[in-house]
Amino acid sequence: MILNGYSDDPSDAPSDAPSDKQAASLGTLTALATADGSFSLHSSLFDESFHSSAGALNEAQVKFVIPAQLERFDKAHQLGKTSLNVLDVCVGLGYNSAALLEALQGISISLQWWGLEIDPRPLALALQQPSFQNYWSPQVLELLWKIHDCHGWRTDSSQGSMLWGDARQQLASLPKDLSFDLILLDAFSPSRCPQLWSEEFLNSLASRLAPGGRLLTYCRAAAIRASLRRAGLQLRSLLAAPEERHGWSSGTLAFQADPDTFIASTGPGWQSLSAMEEEHLLTRAAVPYRDPTGKNNAEEIIKRRQQEQMSCTMASTSSWHRRWRGASCRGYR
Ligand SMILES: C[S@@+](CC[C@H](N)C(=O)[O-])C[C@H]1O[C@@H](n2cnc3c(N)ncnc32)[C@H](O)[C@@H]1O
Repeated sequence: MILNGYSDDPSDAPSDAPSDKQAASLGTLTALATADGSFSLHSSLFDESFHSSAGALNEAQVKFVIPAQLERFDKAHQLGKTSLNVLDVCVGLGYNSAALLEALQGISISLQWWGLEIDPRPLALALQQPSFQNYWSPQVLELLWKIHDCHGWRTDSSQGSMLWGDARQQLASLPKDLSFDLILLDAFSPSRCPQLWSEEFLNSLASRLAPGGRLLTYCRAAAIRASLRRAGLQLRSLLAAPEERHGWSSGTLAFQADPDTFIASTGPGWQSLSAMEEEHLLTRAAVPYRDPTGKNNAEEIIKRRQQEQMSCTMASTSSWHRRWRGASCRGYR
Protein backbone atom coordinates (compact mmCIF):
# COMPACT_ATOMS: atom_id res chain seq x y z
CA MET A 1 0.00 0.00 0.00
CA ILE A 2 1.35 3.38 -0.92
CA LEU A 3 0.54 5.68 1.93
CA ASN A 4 -1.56 8.50 0.59
CA GLY A 5 -0.32 11.88 1.59
CA TYR A 6 3.11 10.39 2.11
CA SER A 7 4.05 9.56 -1.41
CA ASP A 8 7.06 11.36 -2.78
CA ASP A 9 5.35 14.74 -2.75
CA PRO A 10 7.26 16.75 -0.16
CA SER A 11 4.46 19.27 0.19
CA ASP A 12 2.56 16.52 2.04
CA ALA A 13 5.04 16.47 4.89
CA PRO A 14 4.13 18.01 8.26
CA SER A 15 4.31 21.79 8.46
CA ASP A 16 7.40 21.69 10.68
CA ALA A 17 9.18 19.49 8.17
CA PRO A 18 12.69 20.26 6.94
CA SER A 19 13.35 21.35 3.38
CA ASP A 20 11.59 19.84 0.36
CA LYS A 21 14.86 18.20 -0.63
CA GLN A 22 15.12 16.40 2.70
CA ALA A 23 11.45 15.42 2.74
CA ALA A 24 11.85 13.82 -0.68
CA SER A 25 14.84 11.85 0.53
CA LEU A 26 13.06 8.51 0.90
CA GLY A 27 10.89 8.53 -2.25
CA THR A 28 7.58 6.72 -1.94
CA LEU A 29 6.91 5.05 1.40
CA THR A 30 4.96 1.80 1.38
CA ALA A 31 3.47 0.18 4.48
CA LEU A 32 4.72 -3.29 5.44
CA ALA A 33 3.68 -5.77 8.10
CA THR A 34 6.58 -7.67 9.69
CA ALA A 35 6.70 -11.13 11.30
CA ASP A 36 6.03 -9.86 14.83
CA GLY A 37 3.05 -7.86 13.53
CA SER A 38 4.70 -4.47 13.93
CA PHE A 39 4.12 -1.78 11.34
CA SER A 40 7.07 -0.93 9.12
CA LEU A 41 7.83 0.87 5.85
CA HIS A 42 9.67 0.40 2.59
CA SER A 43 11.47 3.29 0.89
CA SER A 44 11.36 3.32 -2.93
CA LEU A 45 14.42 5.55 -3.15
CA PHE A 46 16.65 3.26 -1.08
CA ASP A 47 14.70 0.22 -2.31
CA GLU A 48 14.92 -1.19 1.19
CA SER A 49 12.66 -1.91 4.16
CA PHE A 50 13.14 -0.06 7.42
CA HIS A 51 13.27 -3.24 9.52
CA SER A 52 14.24 -6.88 9.19
CA SER A 53 11.53 -9.35 8.30
CA ALA A 54 11.64 -10.55 11.93
CA GLY A 55 9.93 -7.32 12.89
CA ALA A 56 10.55 -3.80 14.08
CA LEU A 57 9.79 -4.49 17.74
CA ASN A 58 11.85 -7.66 17.76
CA GLU A 59 14.78 -5.80 16.19
CA ALA A 60 14.60 -2.93 18.67
CA GLN A 61 14.81 -5.38 21.58
CA VAL A 62 17.40 -7.84 20.28
CA LYS A 63 19.79 -5.38 18.63
CA PHE A 64 19.46 -2.31 20.80
CA VAL A 65 17.69 -2.62 24.16
CA ILE A 66 19.05 -5.98 25.39
CA PRO A 67 22.75 -5.38 24.55
CA ALA A 68 22.50 -1.83 25.96
CA GLN A 69 22.12 -3.42 29.43
CA LEU A 70 20.21 -0.44 30.78
CA GLU A 71 20.12 -1.84 34.30
CA ARG A 72 23.79 -0.73 34.50
CA PHE A 73 22.54 2.82 34.79
CA ASP A 74 20.13 2.28 37.66
CA LYS A 75 21.26 4.52 40.49
CA ALA A 76 24.42 5.38 38.53
CA HIS A 77 24.07 8.91 39.94
CA GLN A 78 25.22 7.44 43.25
CA LEU A 79 28.53 6.69 41.53
CA GLY A 80 28.74 10.26 40.29
CA LYS A 81 27.19 9.81 36.86
CA THR A 82 24.67 12.58 36.33
CA SER A 83 22.90 11.44 33.16
CA LEU A 84 22.60 8.74 30.53
CA ASN A 85 23.40 10.28 27.14
CA VAL A 86 21.87 8.56 24.11
CA LEU A 87 22.23 9.31 20.40
CA ASP A 88 19.74 7.69 17.98
CA VAL A 89 21.20 7.88 14.46
CA CYS A 90 18.30 7.42 12.02
CA VAL A 91 15.23 7.73 14.22
CA GLY A 92 12.89 6.62 11.41
CA LEU A 93 9.58 5.43 12.91
CA GLY A 94 11.07 5.78 16.38
CA TYR A 95 10.99 2.10 17.41
CA ASN A 96 14.52 1.95 18.82
CA SER A 97 14.20 5.06 20.94
CA ALA A 98 10.66 4.23 22.03
CA ALA A 99 11.72 0.74 23.13
CA LEU A 100 14.68 2.27 24.98
CA LEU A 101 12.51 4.91 26.66
CA GLU A 102 10.05 2.21 27.69
CA ALA A 103 12.82 0.05 29.17
CA LEU A 104 14.23 3.06 31.04
CA GLN A 105 11.04 3.58 32.99
CA GLY A 106 11.83 2.48 36.52
CA ILE A 107 15.56 3.05 36.03
CA SER A 108 16.72 5.84 38.21
CA ILE A 109 18.88 8.09 36.04
CA SER A 110 18.17 11.25 34.12
CA LEU A 111 18.19 10.91 30.33
CA GLN A 112 19.68 13.24 27.72
CA TRP A 113 18.47 12.03 24.31
CA TRP A 114 19.51 13.25 20.86
CA GLY A 115 18.03 12.09 17.57
CA LEU A 116 19.29 12.45 13.99
CA GLU A 117 16.97 11.89 11.02
CA ILE A 118 16.65 13.36 7.55
CA ASP A 119 12.92 12.85 6.98
CA PRO A 120 10.04 13.40 9.43
CA ARG A 121 7.51 11.31 7.48
CA PRO A 122 8.29 7.85 8.96
CA LEU A 123 7.66 9.04 12.52
CA ALA A 124 4.55 10.96 11.42
CA LEU A 125 3.19 7.85 9.69
CA ALA A 126 3.94 5.59 12.64
CA LEU A 127 2.18 7.95 15.05
CA GLN A 128 -0.97 7.74 12.92
CA GLN A 129 -1.14 3.93 13.30
CA PRO A 130 -3.35 2.69 16.17
CA SER A 131 -1.22 -0.49 16.37
CA PHE A 132 1.94 1.59 16.81
CA GLN A 133 0.28 3.79 19.42
CA ASN A 134 -0.77 0.71 21.38
CA TYR A 135 2.80 -0.52 21.77
CA TRP A 136 3.83 2.34 24.01
CA SER A 137 2.86 3.66 27.41
CA PRO A 138 1.15 7.10 27.43
CA GLN A 139 4.39 8.65 28.77
CA VAL A 140 6.54 7.31 25.92
CA LEU A 141 3.90 8.12 23.31
CA GLU A 142 3.80 11.69 24.55
CA LEU A 143 7.56 12.00 24.10
CA LEU A 144 7.30 10.65 20.54
CA TRP A 145 4.64 13.28 19.78
CA LYS A 146 6.89 15.95 21.25
CA ILE A 147 9.72 14.81 18.98
CA HIS A 148 7.33 15.06 16.05
CA ASP A 149 5.62 18.34 16.98
CA CYS A 150 8.26 20.26 18.93
CA HIS A 151 11.63 18.72 17.93
CA GLY A 152 12.10 17.38 21.46
CA TRP A 153 11.02 17.64 25.05
CA ARG A 154 12.14 18.70 28.49
CA THR A 155 10.90 17.22 31.79
CA ASP A 156 12.38 17.15 35.31
CA SER A 157 14.14 13.85 34.59
CA SER A 158 14.84 13.90 30.87
CA GLN A 159 15.51 16.04 27.87
CA GLY A 160 15.29 15.21 24.17
CA SER A 161 16.55 17.10 21.11
CA MET A 162 15.64 16.06 17.58
CA LEU A 163 17.92 17.33 14.81
CA TRP A 164 16.32 16.99 11.37
CA GLY A 165 18.71 16.90 8.42
CA ASP A 166 21.64 14.93 7.05
CA ALA A 167 23.16 13.08 10.00
CA ARG A 168 26.67 13.88 8.77
CA GLN A 169 26.18 17.61 9.15
CA GLN A 170 23.99 17.37 12.23
CA LEU A 171 26.50 15.23 14.10
CA ALA A 172 29.17 17.85 13.48
CA SER A 173 26.85 20.53 14.86
CA LEU A 174 26.45 18.88 18.29
CA PRO A 175 28.28 20.58 21.17
CA LYS A 176 31.94 19.54 21.02
CA ASP A 177 32.06 18.32 24.63
CA LEU A 178 28.95 16.13 24.32
CA SER A 179 29.69 12.40 24.55
CA PHE A 180 27.33 9.43 24.55
CA ASP A 181 26.90 6.31 26.64
CA LEU A 182 24.84 4.73 23.89
CA ILE A 183 24.75 5.30 20.15
CA LEU A 184 22.07 3.43 18.18
CA LEU A 185 23.10 3.27 14.52
CA ASP A 186 20.24 2.15 12.29
CA ALA A 187 20.88 3.54 8.80
CA PHE A 188 19.82 1.68 5.67
CA SER A 189 22.36 -0.95 4.62
CA PRO A 190 25.91 0.12 3.65
CA SER A 191 25.38 -0.66 -0.03
CA ARG A 192 22.25 1.57 -0.10
CA CYS A 193 23.30 4.36 2.26
CA PRO A 194 27.13 4.30 2.43
CA GLN A 195 27.11 7.96 3.54
CA LEU A 196 26.26 6.82 7.08
CA TRP A 197 28.74 3.93 7.15
CA SER A 198 31.86 5.69 5.91
CA GLU A 199 35.17 5.42 7.73
CA GLU A 200 34.91 9.15 8.45
CA PHE A 201 31.34 9.08 9.81
CA LEU A 202 32.03 6.00 11.96
CA ASN A 203 35.17 7.66 13.25
CA SER A 204 33.17 10.73 14.24
CA LEU A 205 30.62 8.55 16.03
CA ALA A 206 33.38 6.61 17.81
CA SER A 207 34.96 9.86 18.97
CA ARG A 208 31.64 10.80 20.58
CA LEU A 209 31.49 7.67 22.76
CA ALA A 210 32.05 8.27 26.46
CA PRO A 211 34.52 5.93 28.22
CA GLY A 212 32.72 2.57 28.38
CA GLY A 213 30.16 3.86 25.84
CA ARG A 214 28.54 1.43 23.39
CA LEU A 215 27.62 1.76 19.74
CA LEU A 216 24.96 -0.73 18.68
CA THR A 217 23.99 -1.60 15.15
CA TYR A 218 22.26 -4.37 13.24
CA CYS A 219 25.15 -4.26 10.75
CA ARG A 220 27.72 -7.07 10.75
CA ALA A 221 29.41 -6.13 7.46
CA ALA A 222 33.19 -6.53 7.46
CA ALA A 223 33.77 -2.99 6.14
CA ILE A 224 31.83 -1.51 9.04
CA ARG A 225 33.42 -3.67 11.71
CA ALA A 226 36.90 -2.95 10.35
CA SER A 227 36.23 0.82 10.36
CA LEU A 228 34.91 0.66 13.93
CA ARG A 229 37.99 -1.27 15.03
CA ARG A 230 40.31 1.21 13.33
CA ALA A 231 38.42 3.95 15.18
CA GLY A 232 39.73 2.39 18.38
CA LEU A 233 36.62 0.45 19.44
CA GLN A 234 36.46 -3.14 20.61
CA LEU A 235 33.96 -5.42 18.94
CA ARG A 236 31.41 -8.02 19.94
CA SER A 237 29.01 -9.89 17.68
CA LEU A 238 25.30 -9.69 18.41
CA LEU A 239 23.68 -13.10 18.65
CA ALA A 240 21.38 -14.05 15.82
CA ALA A 241 17.71 -13.94 16.66
CA PRO A 242 16.04 -17.31 15.92
CA GLU A 243 13.60 -15.59 13.51
CA GLU A 244 16.36 -14.21 11.34
CA ARG A 245 17.23 -15.71 8.01
CA HIS A 246 21.01 -15.34 8.06
CA GLY A 247 22.11 -17.05 11.18
CA TRP A 248 25.68 -16.13 12.12
CA SER A 249 25.26 -12.71 13.71
CA SER A 250 22.55 -10.11 14.02
CA GLY A 251 24.82 -7.09 14.33
CA THR A 252 27.67 -5.46 16.19
CA LEU A 253 28.32 -4.04 19.63
CA ALA A 254 31.34 -1.70 19.48
CA PHE A 255 32.59 -0.10 22.65
CA GLN A 256 35.11 2.36 23.94
CA ALA A 257 37.25 0.30 26.30
CA ASP A 258 37.62 1.77 29.74
CA PRO A 259 39.52 0.31 32.72
CA ASP A 260 36.50 0.91 34.95
CA THR A 261 33.95 -0.74 32.66
CA PHE A 262 34.60 -4.38 31.95
CA ILE A 263 32.69 -5.85 29.01
CA ALA A 264 32.84 -9.62 29.06
CA SER A 265 33.44 -11.60 25.90
CA THR A 266 29.91 -12.95 26.21
CA GLY A 267 26.95 -11.07 27.60
CA PRO A 268 23.22 -10.59 27.16
CA GLY A 269 22.80 -10.80 23.42
CA TRP A 270 26.47 -10.83 22.34
CA GLN A 271 29.62 -12.94 22.06
CA SER A 272 33.19 -12.46 20.82
CA LEU A 273 33.69 -12.47 17.09
CA SER A 274 34.18 -16.05 15.89
CA ALA A 275 37.23 -17.14 13.88
CA MET A 276 35.04 -16.89 10.79
CA GLU A 277 34.05 -13.32 11.58
CA GLU A 278 37.65 -12.30 12.37
CA GLU A 279 38.84 -13.77 9.08
CA HIS A 280 36.08 -11.88 7.27
CA LEU A 281 37.77 -8.65 8.37
CA LEU A 282 40.91 -9.63 6.44
CA THR A 283 39.11 -9.94 3.11
CA ARG A 284 38.22 -7.35 0.47
CA ALA A 285 34.76 -7.10 2.01
CA ALA A 286 36.51 -5.15 4.77
CA VAL A 287 37.60 -2.33 2.45
CA PRO A 288 35.90 0.71 3.98
CA TYR A 289 33.44 3.14 2.49
CA ARG A 290 35.20 6.51 2.27
CA ASP A 291 33.64 9.96 2.22
CA PRO A 292 36.53 12.36 2.85
CA THR A 293 34.50 15.56 2.48
CA GLY A 294 31.38 14.28 4.27
CA LYS A 295 29.40 15.42 1.22
CA ASN A 296 29.73 12.57 -1.28
CA ASN A 297 26.65 10.79 -2.59
CA ALA A 298 26.15 7.02 -2.52
CA GLU A 299 27.37 6.45 -6.09
CA GLU A 300 30.61 8.34 -5.51
CA ILE A 301 31.34 6.45 -2.28
CA ILE A 302 30.59 3.05 -3.78
CA LYS A 303 32.67 3.74 -6.88
CA ARG A 304 35.64 4.80 -4.74
CA ARG A 305 35.35 1.60 -2.70
CA GLN A 306 35.13 -0.62 -5.79
CA GLN A 307 38.32 0.96 -7.14
CA GLU A 308 40.08 0.37 -3.84
CA GLN A 309 38.86 -3.24 -3.73
CA MET A 310 40.21 -3.88 -7.23
CA SER A 311 43.65 -2.55 -6.41
CA CYS A 312 44.07 -3.93 -2.89
CA THR A 313 46.00 -7.08 -1.95
CA MET A 314 43.55 -8.36 0.65
CA ALA A 315 42.24 -11.93 0.45
CA SER A 316 39.25 -12.54 -1.77
CA THR A 317 35.92 -12.70 0.00
CA SER A 318 34.81 -15.58 -2.22
CA SER A 319 37.62 -17.81 -0.90
CA TRP A 320 36.63 -16.88 2.64
CA HIS A 321 33.07 -17.78 1.74
CA ARG A 322 34.08 -21.14 0.28
CA ARG A 323 36.21 -21.89 3.33
CA TRP A 324 33.37 -21.22 5.75
CA ARG A 325 30.50 -22.39 3.56
CA GLY A 326 29.31 -24.91 6.10
CA ALA A 327 29.25 -22.30 8.84
CA SER A 328 26.32 -20.43 7.38
CA CYS A 329 28.10 -17.33 6.11
CA ARG A 330 25.46 -16.20 3.67
CA GLY A 331 24.86 -12.50 3.34
CA TYR A 332 28.52 -11.84 3.97
CA ARG A 333 29.18 -8.80 1.81
C1 LIG B 1 16.40 1.73 8.60
S1 LIG B 1 15.58 3.28 8.76
C2 LIG B 1 15.61 3.61 10.50
C3 LIG B 1 14.59 2.86 11.31
C4 LIG B 1 14.41 3.39 12.70
N1 LIG B 1 15.58 3.30 13.51
C5 LIG B 1 13.22 2.84 13.42
O1 LIG B 1 13.37 2.36 14.56
O2 LIG B 1 12.14 2.88 12.85
C6 LIG B 1 16.80 4.39 8.14
C7 LIG B 1 16.48 5.85 8.34
O3 LIG B 1 17.61 6.62 7.90
C8 LIG B 1 17.15 7.86 7.46
N2 LIG B 1 18.21 8.49 6.65
C9 LIG B 1 18.62 8.17 5.40
N3 LIG B 1 19.65 8.95 5.02
C10 LIG B 1 19.90 9.78 6.06
C11 LIG B 1 20.85 10.81 6.29
N4 LIG B 1 21.76 11.13 5.37
N5 LIG B 1 20.81 11.46 7.47
C12 LIG B 1 19.89 11.15 8.42
N6 LIG B 1 18.98 10.17 8.26
C13 LIG B 1 18.97 9.49 7.10
C14 LIG B 1 15.90 7.51 6.68
O4 LIG B 1 15.04 8.63 6.53
C15 LIG B 1 15.29 6.40 7.53
O5 LIG B 1 14.32 6.90 8.41
